[in-house]
Amino acid sequence: MTELIKPKMMDYHRHLLICIGDRCCPNGEGQALYDTLSEKFKAAGLNAGDLRVKRSRATCFGTCKSGPLVCVQPDGVWYYDITDEKLDRIIAEHLIGNQPIKEWIYHQH
Ligand code: FES
Repeated sequence: MTELIKPKMMDYHRHLLICIGDRCCPNGEGQALYDTLSEKFKAAGLNAGDLRVKRSRATCFGTCKSGPLVCVQPDGVWYYDITDEKLDRIIAEHLIGNQPIKEWIYHQH
């Protein structure tokens, strides 16, 4: 019988998820964006400490249009059509500056 091992997770301030599904990102744009996150978070100081942002990939948010789609929790902010340049602004203005970028939001809880 396999012994259950309780998973561990570092503390985080926010959680950013990117959909990598091919219905909103038919050419792998979501995965390509996700692949930049580690370096971008390190450069912004979001990879550790009080403002640490956890990052995850999802295969579908159920809103399969105009990706890449990015979700920031616990803020309940859902962004669409996110490019590399837009992600830089989300990091600076939302994740660091606490000001979501209204014009790119398609849903906010
Ligand atoms: S495939 Fe990305 S939201 Fe469905």
